[in-house]
Amino acid sequence: MLLCAAAFLTLALQVSAAAQVAIQDTGRTLTLGGVSYFVPASPVSALHDSSSLSVAAKSAFNGLLPFSVIPTSEPIFDGDALQDIVHDWSTKDDVWSKEFLRGIYLTYNGSRALPTTSSFLAQETSGIDFVLLSKSYPLGIELAKVLPAGPYFLEPASGNIYQALRLYNDENQSFVYGTIPDGNGGFQVLSAKIPGAATETIGVPSRLYFTATTEKPLAGMRLAVKDIYDVKGLRTGCGNRAFWQLYPPKETTAPAIQRLLDGGAVLVGKTKTSQFANGEVATSDWVDLHAPYNPRGDGYQDGSSSSTGSGTSMAAYPWLDLAVGTDTGGSMRGPAGANGVFGNRPSHGAVSLDNVMPLSPELDTAGIFSRDAKLWATAAQWWYQNFTSSSQFPKKLLFPVEFFGSSYLTTPPRAGSVADTFNSFITKLEGFLNTTRTEMSLAAIWNATKPADVSTPSLQTLLSTTYVDLIALDQVELVADPFIADFGAANGGRMPFIDPSPLARWTYGRSLPPGQKEEALANKTVFMEWFSSSVVQPDATNCSDSILIYPQSIGATNYRNRYVWSEVPEVVVTAPRIAVYAGVPDMVVPIGEAPFNSTITGQTEFLPVTISFVAAKGCDLMLFNLFAALQDARIVRAVETGSRLFR
Ligand SMILES: *[C@@H]1O[C@H](CO)[C@@H](O)[C@H](O)[C@H]1NC(C)=O
Ligand SMILES: *[C@@H]1O[C@H](CO)[C@@H](O)[C@H](O)[C@H]1NC(C)=O
Ligand SMILES: *[C@@H]1O[C@H](CO)[C@@H](O)[C@H](O)[C@H]1NC(C)=O
Ligand SMILES: *[C@@H]1O[C@H](CO)[C@@H](O)[C@H](O)[C@H]1NC(C)=O
Ligand SMILES: *[C@@H]1O[C@H](CO)[C@@H](O)[C@H](O)[C@H]1NC(C)=O
Ligand SMILES: *[C@@H]1O[C@H](CO)[C@@H](O)[C@H](O)[C@H]1NC(C)=O
Ligand SMILES: *[C@@H]1O[C@H](CO)[C@@H](O)[C@H](O)[C@H]1NC(C)=O
Ligand SMILES: *[C@@H]1O[C@H](CO)[C@@H](O)[C@H](O)[C@H]1NC(C)=O
Repeated sequence: MLLCAAAFLTLALQVSAAAQVAIQDTGRTLTLGGVSYFVPASPVSALHDSSSLSVAAKSAFNGLLPFSVIPTSEPIFDGDALQDIVHDWSTKDDVWSKEFLRGIYLTYNGSRALPTTSSFLAQETSGIDFVLLSKSYPLGIELAKVLPAGPYFLEPASGNIYQALRLYNDENQSFVYGTIPDGNGGFQVLSAKIPGAATETIGVPSRLYFTATTEKPLAGMRLAVKDIYDVKGLRTGCGNRAFWQLYPPKETTAPAIQRLLDGGAVLVGKTKTSQFANGEVATSDWVDLHAPYNPRGDGYQDGSSSSTGSGTSMAAYPWLDLAVGTDTGGSMRGPAGANGVFGNRPSHGAVSLDNVMPLSPELDTAGIFSRDAKLWATAAQWWYQNFTSSSQFPKKLLFPVEFFGSSYLTTPPRAGSVADTFNSFITKLEGFLNTTRTEMSLAAIWNATKPADVSTPSLQTLLSTTYVDLIALDQVELVADPFIADFGAANGGRMPFIDPSPLARWTYGRSLPPGQKEEALANKTVFMEWFSSSVVQPDATNCSDSILIYPQSIGATNYRNRYVWSEVPEVVVTAPRIAVYAGVPDMVVPIGEAPFNSTITGQTEFLPVTISFVAAKGCDLMLFNLFAALQDARIVRAVETGSRLFR
């Protein structure tokens, strides 16, 4: 009887303990000055004694009080000093606003002696509910943890202090979800939603919390990551709903992403990929996910694939700084061209692709999008740490006539034409490099210099199915077969749904005879070796003996409201395939816009014109340095977000 009562009591205690943990704070969403914010569940610091707060402060809205941590090196912080802060912070941060001046926590970091009694912020400070002084001041108070400058929320009841994340609407449907750190070295899905929003909500922390250093050159840079990279705490969806549901959240962050986080980048969300990183057309192919919106022109152009969400988000959102994608056959360069942003395919092997869904390990690469050539170069110097950085540029500029076409050879091209945009850019580039372009033909060089033991008359024959064979065979083995087996085991033998494009590729891959992969790899190697010995060669002084350029996007329309469907694998050798087979870098630079009459808006709209730069393997940083220098020389310009690249 006694035993029984004790057991009952234990049970009751367990129930009440369980009941206690059942309610979990997942953070708060609120608006301040008409702007939506998210207040994470975990505080970043605390005020141990809130007795110094005024009654007005304590009765603040929602039990939370917006305030600013302001560092100063001035012994007297007066109204003028405050005005300087207001001006500076308003221009450099989108999270902080004057609404955060309800309270001030002043931290002194100067070297001069402080007055013992001080009248900080005398009359100019009306509207400020409280001013607290840090421990560095006489009678100052200490926080549980020192805080960097910026906007915060104080909960007077508990003394807890929280970061402020500004919430943005994913209008262009580029993201699968927003993310915040989970406090455990990983991330969780952001639980916030902007009131009334019909799309995903993304939260960004204040830029004021971060200061770039040599160890953290990317501090505070807001980063979006294609949803084929694993991130600890999050699922990897690869654009497939069944795949997303089947596998649990990851326990490891891909080293490529960890490197960017270690450099100070702030992960704000995962972006949509076309399914399993295969090429997909917006309307016919994106069955499981809805294709992101390319904001350029009329807003109804295909954003290209497969790093679609990373490309469209970079073109759409001024609050985002960097976005990561991958490129196997054009998945960075296509979206960079269509969305008019900087984007690169690096040399093969530039960064580790562990914990990243493969398409074909022999061809897969990790690239990054930016709107600014200089930030792009900073990110690349950090990310592609194993390459040497050359700031001497080759003098030989290769101009392959077969990719530019005859209209580019008429001098001068019609004013205002796309050919004119390319020609005037290349003319400025020639001036910068103090050189003139070398017109050449890849086909003719192949004809003249192809390896003696290769009988193939054309590159077209050599590379006919090389690409599709490799990606289809590799992905069937590395992704499709294990996924289908795992899904079947968990679902009574059922098949998962697969979008038409990857399904066709996989079906094709399964139809290939044994030995096909070896043949494809051998052909790729023939091209790679020929390219580096006869076209773009390594160079001891300038890394690469030459730079090869070709048009990446020409402002052509590619409307979303069209059904395009073809199961036939492509067999043409296009310019973007050079870097794929040769393992060399190919970097896309926006240089202009082309007008078109939109069938959507009935108005003249503009689409991006971009150019690609190819150099020898491992010379990525030379090219990044070149673009940064070209931006300084105003030959390359940072692009804007939204419909137009340039204003
Ligand atoms: C003190 O803080 C101000 C404002 O953030 C900053 O400009 C200054 O560099 C800091 N001084 C020192 C010595 O850290
Ligand atoms: C894309 O984003 C832009 C903001 O950059 C917005 O003006 C536009 O309406 C969005 N397009 C769509 C289709 O949501
Ligand atoms: C690059 O160098 C780092 C540091 O030496 C090393 O850990 C990493 O494995 C290298 N990455 C690649 C892709 O070779
Ligand atoms: C290497 O760069 C230097 C400086 O730009 C230039 O003078 C030289 O001609 C270049 N060499 C080659 C092979 O392009
Ligand atoms: C450009 O090249 C020419 C011929 O090689 C040389 O005479 C001239 O000094 C160079 N100019 C600059 C600015 O490097
Ligand atoms: C390749 O060479 C053959 C003979 O040497 C010539 O007839 C043919 O026109 C060349 N093709 C190209 C593309 O240069
Ligand atoms: C490899 O190249 C040969 C010609 O040398 C061609 O006949 C064959 O189709 C190619 N194979 C692949 C997989 O590209
Ligand atoms: C748009 O249409 C007008 C009228 O047909 C035509 O004059 C103009 O050249 C067109 N513009 C473009 C960029 O095609």
